[in-house]
Amino acid sequence: MLFFILIALVTFGHFSFVLFLHNWFYSKPFPRLLGDLIQATHVLFGFLGLLAVYTLTIKVEAFIKDPCLNLLSNLWVDYGLFCLFVGGVLLPINEIFRNFWRIPINFYIQQSRHFDYANHFFIKKKSNFLNESFKLEVVLAEISTHSLPTNSTLKILHFSDFHFGGNDNYAYFHFVMAELEKEAYDFVFFTGDLVDDVSFLRWVVPLLKKIRAKYGKYAVLGNHDLWNKPDMVRKYLRKAGFICLSDQWFSVEFKGCKIGVFGTGYPWFSTKLPDTSSGDYGIKILLTHSPDEFFWAAKNNFNLMFCGHVHGGQIALPFFGPLLIPSKFGRRFGGGFFSHGGMIMHVSRGLAGSFPLRINCKPEVTILSLVSKTT
Ligand SMILES: [Fe+2]
Repeated sequence: MLFFILIALVTFGHFSFVLFLHNWFYSKPFPRLLGDLIQATHVLFGFLGLLAVYTLTIKVEAFIKDPCLNLLSNLWVDYGLFCLFVGGVLLPINEIFRNFWRIPINFYIQQSRHFDYANHFFIKKKSNFLNESFKLEVVLAEISTHSLPTNSTLKILHFSDFHFGGNDNYAYFHFVMAELEKEAYDFVFFTGDLVDDVSFLRWVVPLLKKIRAKYGKYAVLGNHDLWNKPDMVRKYLRKAGFICLSDQWFSVEFKGCKIGVFGTGYPWFSTKLPDTSSGDYGIKILLTHSPDEFFWAAKNNFNLMFCGHVHGGQIALPFFGPLLIPSKFGRRFGGGFFSHGGMIMHVSRGLAGSFPLRINCKPEVTILSLVSKTT
């Protein structure tokens, strides 16, 4: 029994380590080809690592029979022992602290509207019962803050990661945007990865122009936009009424409160974190593509941060959650609301992906009502 637990921990440790490498490398601003190459080596390493498990099994069995054997003489055994440490010690610690920064759902008022477009005549051919790529969850959240003027509310629509072309089903996006057009917002934030193929930029204006926002629609670009003519992406976003922010503030006056929206393309469009010190605002909002700037944003006194990039992992296991979260923090910021140092971050699961497959991970948009705190 103990032997099987040992093998299970080594196997868990190995795959956790491979997953950590995958997520960490994919959070870095490598050129796409190099990134893909690194991912391929991880898949190879994933299978090769099973040799460590096998070798450790043989060696431990031999060691039980002859305790004089030197276990540490074999590279695979050394790696197997490292995996045992990862699976038996680091993994449980990580799981305990993984949700440390997450805001519990009952802490803010949250309702969800669910839509299923998979059976629609125009979409049906591309759906199946497991794939949730053509469903939609509209999250309605409410958070109170002392930063807003008394008796006021800000309604913010946040969406991300459309990957036009990766999901090439125009009808799906048409249904989603038609739903969102029914309401008017104070702010609309788009946090990157508009296209996977520049020829799909023709979708941007017809799909996004009608979305209304009293104080403006703002966008930052993502890594997939960088790989697909970012100047063209910005041009089409502007045509659809968006203000594209590249390491700059945009100031809005709201009932006597000065709201600053800062957008950055770091780390894909700039090599160092931007200087945000010039912003003297009552409320500071940060738009980035990745959640990796969470602690930096809190340290720089932002009140709110919006990002996407991680797609909720696209496949989430029951109980265990998503595995593939391209972030230097691994699976910590897979989607939802997080808080640190008085700042609140929303990580969008996005609307699509380069590959239209989602299991237990519906596409999502969030409508956040920020209300003034009375006490
Ligand atoms: Fe993305």
